[in-house]
Amino acid sequence: MTTHIRGTGEPGLMSVAATIPSSCLHDIFRAADRKERLGGEVVKLHVGEPYFGPPEEVAEALAAAVRQGRTAYSEVEGLLELREAVVEKLATANGVDSDPSRVVITPGSCQGLSALLHTLAEPGAEILLPELHWPVHLQQALLAGFRPVFYPLDAGFRPDPEGIRAKAGPRTRVLLVNSPANPTGAVLDAGQLTELLELAREHGWGIISDEAYEHYVYDGGHVSFASLERDVPVAERIVHSTFSFSKSLAMTGYRLGYVAAADDRTAHALRVVQEASIIGPSTPVQYAGIAALRLAGATDAHRELVRRNRDTALAPLVAAGLLSELPAGGWYAMADISRTGLDAEEFTARLLASRSVAVVAGTGFATQPRLDEAGRIRSTAFAPWSRHLVRIAFCVAPEALRTGVRRLVEFVESGEYGKPEEYGEAAGDGGFSGAGAGAPSGAERSAGARAGGGRAVG
Ligand SMILES: Cc1ncc(COP(=O)(O)O)c(C=O)c1O
Repeated sequence: MTTHIRGTGEPGLMSVAATIPSSCLHDIFRAADRKERLGGEVVKLHVGEPYFGPPEEVAEALAAAVRQGRTAYSEVEGLLELREAVVEKLATANGVDSDPSRVVITPGSCQGLSALLHTLAEPGAEILLPELHWPVHLQQALLAGFRPVFYPLDAGFRPDPEGIRAKAGPRTRVLLVNSPANPTGAVLDAGQLTELLELAREHGWGIISDEAYEHYVYDGGHVSFASLERDVPVAERIVHSTFSFSKSLAMTGYRLGYVAAADDRTAHALRVVQEASIIGPSTPVQYAGIAALRLAGATDAHRELVRRNRDTALAPLVAAGLLSELPAGGWYAMADISRTGLDAEEFTARLLASRSVAVVAGTGFATQPRLDEAGRIRSTAFAPWSRHLVRIAFCVAPEALRTGVRRLVEFVESGEYGKPEEYGEAAGDGGFSGAGAGAPSGAERSAGARAGGGRAVG
C-alpha cells in the first residue's frame, strides 16, 4: 500500500518528525504504568524526578504573581529582573561573564536547547553528540535539521578529544557537551573542557554546554564551560550554555530554564526563534524563578540529599561488581549487567516483570540513526556495547532506591532470569533504542513512526 502523507504531495514521503520515534524513557514509562494498572507496585528507578520538592518560597512567589495579576505576556527573552538575577548568579556561582541582553529565559532548559539548536542549524550541518546521550538531544538535533555524528567516550564516559577529531568533518558545526552527564554521571574538569574548547576553536565549531545538572557534582566542583571564555571578547566567544531550575531547585513541572548565548548575534537569533515558537516564557513562573535565585543554600541542600542516596544506596552495586565506581555527578548511574548474558532490553523487561523494578536499557541512550538526504530516519542502529548497560536514577526516595537496588542485585546474582512471558508480561516494546527485546547485537531496524504522546522525562 502506498502511503500519502498530507502536505508532502508525494507518495511514500514522510516529514522528518514523522520518522523520529519517541524516546526509550517514554517506553519504560508506559511499561511501568501498565504493570501498575495490572495491580503491581513498581519501584521506579527509571524516572529523573526528585523525591523532594521546591522550597516553599517558590510556590508562594508563583501564587502571589498570579493573585496580583502579574500574568501578562513578558518580553520575548523573559523579564529583565529575572535576567539580571541570572547574570548575577552566572557571575558568582559559575564564573561566567554574561549580560541580560545575552540571556534568554525558556520554559525548561529543554526548550532552551531546542531553540539554540534551531538558532545554530544550517542546511546540511552536522552536530557532534556523545555516543551515550540523553535521547532528547538527538530528537532535538534531528528536528532542527542537524545530521548527528556520534563521538566516542573513554572508560569513564568522558569525551575522547582524539575520537572527536576523527569523527568530525567539513560539515561539522556544533559540539554538544553535557557535564554532569545524563545518562552516565560523568563530570568534566577544567583541563578536559579546555582541550575540547581548543579543538572547537581550531575547527570553527560552536559549543552547546548543557548544564542542567550543574548543582549535582559530588567530588570537587562543577566547572561551567563558558567560564573558560570569561576573558575572551564577546564577539569571539563560542560556548552557548543552557541551565535549568528543574534539577537544582526541584522545579521540574514549573518548566523554567535559561540560555546564556555566547555572543550578541546568537542572542538576537535566539530571541527570533523564541518569539516564533512560544512568544515568551510563562510570566508568573518567572517570578517563582526570581524567588528561587534569591534562596541561599537550597541547591546545596538538594545536592546533599542526592549525594546521601548515591553514597549509601548505590554501594551494593559497586560491591556486586555492577558499577566500577560511584558516579561523579548527576542523578544517574550506568550499571553493567553483561554477566547476566542478557541484552539490556531483555534485562529491563525481565527485571520489571519478575522484581517490579523499572530501569532503562542503555541502548536507548546510544541510538545512531541513518538518515536519507532530506534528514529523515531510514534505519536505526546503536553502539553495541550499550547492550550491557542499564540506567538507574538515584534521585528517588531513599527507601525505594534501596529496595530497587537490592532487588536488582538479587536478580543478577540469582542466575534465574526466566522470560517475561513466564511472569505473564509482554517484553518492553522498543522505542528509540533501535532494538526490541531480544534483538541481536548491533541490530538495525527500519524507521517507522511510533505514536507519540505520554510522558518522556529525564
Ligand atoms: C541532560 C538534560 N538536559 C536537559 C534536561 C531538560 O530539563 P528541563 O527542561 O526540565 O530544564 C534534562 C531533563 O531531564 C536532562 O536530563
